[in-house]
Formats: sequence, structure tokens, C-alpha cells
Amino acid sequence: MPLTEQYGVTSRRRRGATGDRVGRGLISDVAKTRYVRGMFNAIAPRYDLANTLLSAGFHLTWKRRAVRLLRAPAPGRALDLCCGTGDLALLLARQVGRGGTVVGIDFSEAMLHIGRRRATAAGLHRICQFVLGDAEALPLADGAFDVATVGFGIRNVGRPAAALGELRRVLQPGGRLAVLEFGRPSNAALRAVYDAYSFAVVPRVGRALTGHQDAYLYLPTSIRHWPDQDQFADALRRAGFANVRYVNLLTGVAVIHLATRPGDAR
Ligand SMILES: C[S@@+](CC[C@H](N)C(=O)[O-])C[C@H]1O[C@@H](n2cnc3c(N)ncnc32)[C@H](O)[C@@H]1O
Repeated sequence: MPLTEQYGVTSRRRRGATGDRVGRGLISDVAKTRYVRGMFNAIAPRYDLANTLLSAGFHLTWKRRAVRLLRAPAPGRALDLCCGTGDLALLLARQVGRGGTVVGIDFSEAMLHIGRRRATAAGLHRICQFVLGDAEALPLADGAFDVATVGFGIRNVGRPAAALGELRRVLQPGGRLAVLEFGRPSNAALRAVYDAYSFAVVPRVGRALTGHQDAYLYLPTSIRHWPDQDQFADALRRAGFANVRYVNLLTGVAVIHLATRPGDAR
């Protein structure tokens, strides 16, 4: 039985909810893209608060670890795709240092606006640039980056394979990628608690915090319909990445995927 049916989210009302249908992949890529952009524009002002409360602060620990594992050179050129409000971009900015550059790309102007404000407040605005753009057609030159990150973003893209192709294109040969995404926890006891929390608590608390009807129903539903860690590792290989490996976080609730664009660094 699909997880979402165990927790009552397929009651008649919920089954009709757009967030449920989008999360299950029951609509076209174009309609998903429209829904996701509207959703992030709507929840942007409360996104950071909701993230921190709903993950009990874990998302920040995971982001720090992903950036540590990526080992951006200093000075270096880093891309944060689907950057949202800029958590990873700001961490990367500290790694690449004053002589480096970080480009954060997102298609939600409301999320970027907060990212720019945070970069200015942190004194990192000269290093960190936030640019409106679509992950499936990046407004960036071939081979322009030493490293790239995507934090909880690739699952939300209409055509994830197209975004992986773009990431490969804009990384220089030998450039490194870290994708932080949700996975499948291997610990059965933890999985049971996590599933109950995801479907009984997250949609209600998310709605109360952001005022959005079903963004936080879309979240756990899309996670259950996303490839597991081994399947996503295969997707990275199919997109032309090498040295593909991953690190499970909380036994696989979240995963840091690491990969390299083949070829020697220039
Ligand atoms: C869950 S948020 C993650 C934000 C940030 N990386 C973080 O970890 O907090 C996903 C982000 O992906 C962006 N996004 C989704 N699809 C996109 C696309 N096709 N092009 C650019 N950004 C996209 C959304 O606007 C949103 O800001």
C-alpha cells in the first residue's frame, strides 16, 4: 500500500488537493512547474521558519555537511541551483572567500529577494549573486563553475533530467556536484515515526505557518514519489556524471549525493 494511503491523506478531500496530485506526478511537467513556482512565491516569507521548525534544525546541519564534503576551492566559482533563500549559497560564499564568486539561481523571485537581503546582512553580497533562472535552461556559460550544489531542489523541477544535464554543462571538467535531497530511511522504526510525522503533522503545521493550503502536503507526497538513493545515483550516471556516491543522513531520511563531471580540471 502506498505510504500516503496509510496516513489518511487520500481521503476524498485530500485526494483532490493539487499538492497531492502534483506530489504524485499526476499532472504534466508544465503544470507542475507552474504549481511549484506559485507555491514558492507564496510561502517565501515563512519558508525559512517552516524549514527550521519542521526539520528541528536538521536541514542546516545537513547543508553544512554537504558544503564541507564538496570542498569548494578558494578562491573558486560556485553555483547553487534552486537556491531558494540562499542557505547553501551563503555557506559556499564563506568557502570560496573574497576572491571567489557564488551564483544562486532560482525561478522564484520572492525566494531570491530574501536571499539577496540575507547576503547583504551577512556582508557577502560582493561574493554572492542571486539570479532569476530556470534549472532546465540555465543562463550560464559552459564550464563556468568549479563546484555546484542543489539543496532539496531537484525533486521540484519539472524535468529533473534536463536540470542534471545543465549542471553537467556548466561545471568545468573535473568540477564537483553535491545534491542534497530526501531519500528512504533504512531504519524501520525511524521510518514508521517519520511517515507518521510527515503525513499527520507536517501538512497541518506547514499550513498554519505559511497559510498555504497544500504546499506541505505536496512536500511529503513528492518525497515518497521521488527515486530512492540508488535510483537517483543511477540518474546522475545517466546524466554523464562520474565518481557518483552518496552519504545517508539519519539513516537515509536525507541524502548527500556527490558526483564529478568527467575530465581533467583546467
Ligand atoms: C525546497 S526549495 C529549496 C531551497 C534551498 N535550496 C534550500 O535548501 O533551502 C526548492 C527551490 O527550488 C526552486 N525551483 C524549483 N524548480 C525550479 C526550476 N525549474 N528552476 C529554478 N528554480 C526552481 C524553487 O523556487 C525553490 O526555491
